[in-house]
Amino acid sequence: MRFSVGLGKEGAEERLARRGVSRRDFLKFCTAIAVTMGMGPAFAPEVARALTGSRRPSVVYLHNAECTGCSESVLRAFQPYLDELVLDTISLDYHETIMAAAGDAAEAALHQAVANPDGFICIVEGAIPTADNGIYGKVANHTMLSICSDIVPKAKAVIAYGTCATFGGVQAAKPNPTGAKGLNDALKHLGVNAINLAGCPPNPYNLVGTLVYYLKNNAAPEMDEFNRPLMFFGQSVHDNCPRLKHFDAGEFAPSFESEEARKGWCLYELGCKGPSTMNNCPKIKFNQTNWPVEAGHPCIGCSEPDFWDEKSPFYES
Ligand code: SF4
Ligand code: F3S
Repeated sequence: MRFSVGLGKEGAEERLARRGVSRRDFLKFCTAIAVTMGMGPAFAPEVARALTGSRRPSVVYLHNAECTGCSESVLRAFQPYLDELVLDTISLDYHETIMAAAGDAAEAALHQAVANPDGFICIVEGAIPTADNGIYGKVANHTMLSICSDIVPKAKAVIAYGTCATFGGVQAAKPNPTGAKGLNDALKHLGVNAINLAGCPPNPYNLVGTLVYYLKNNAAPEMDEFNRPLMFFGQSVHDNCPRLKHFDAGEFAPSFESEEARKGWCLYELGCKGPSTMNNCPKIKFNQTNWPVEAGHPCIGCSEPDFWDEKSPFYES
C-alpha cells in the first residue's frame, strides 16, 4: 500500500507501509500527536510532513544509570507501531541497547555519528553517577560522566528522556551514594540545557511531539522552570483526571479494594499525588489504552523532581 497525501520525501510512505503502518494508522497517529502537542487535529498534516521529511536527523541515544524502561516505552508501544515511525523519522545512529554493532564497531559508530557535518540530536536516558569522578557507571570502560561530558555538549539539540535523565530518578534517592544527577544538573558547567521529558516511564508521544516540534521549528518548545515543555507538562494530572468530579464532591475511596474505588471515586486519601504533579497522562494515556489512576493506582508523582524522596510514602491507609 502507498500513502498518497504528499507527505514529503518520496519513499518514506513506502517504508512505513512495508513495516505494516497503513495510511489510516499513520494519519490517526499524526492526529494523536497533534492533539498531544495541544495543536488540535487540524495540525495533523503538519505532523505528517515533519515525520516524513526529506532529511532524517541523526540521533545519538546514550544510556546511563537506569532500567531501560524509557526505551522500552517506545519500543513496546503497539499500534500504530510507534517504534517503526520513530525509527523511520530519525536516523538512529547509536543506541547501546538495540544497535547491532558491539565493541570497537559500536565505538566507531558513535564517533562517526558525532562527526556528522549536519550535526546530531542527543537523547539521553538515565541518571549520571558523578561521585568519585563517576566510577559507579561505565560503558566501554569510560565513565558515563566522561561519555556524556564529551558527547552531549556537541549536540545541536539535547533531550533528557525520563525522570532519571531529567532529575536523577530513584538512583538519586537519599543517601544517593553514587552522586546520581539529572543531565542538566550534572553538566550545567558545560552549558548543557536539555529539554526535559520527565516520567517513569515518560510517554513516547511526548518524545515524538518534541521531535516534531524541533523538526518544524529548529528550536526547543516553551518550557517550565524545570525545562519540561509546557505543551505536555502545562497542566497537572489532577486537572484532567476522570475522578476529579468525585474529588470536588468530597467522595474519596476508603481503600483500593472498595466498591467506591471501583466506581471511580477519588484516590487522594489513598496517597494520590495528582494535584501536585504536572503531566499529560490522563489526556494521552499509555499505548492510548490506560494510565495509572484510571487503572486504580494513585499517581506517585513520577514526573516531578525528587518524587522518590519528596512524595513518599506513595500510599496512605
Ligand atoms: Fe486528583 Fe488523584 Fe483524585 Fe484524580 S485520583 S482527582 S488525580 S487526587
Ligand atoms: Fe507518573 Fe502520575 Fe502519570 S505516577 S505516569 S505522572 S499518573
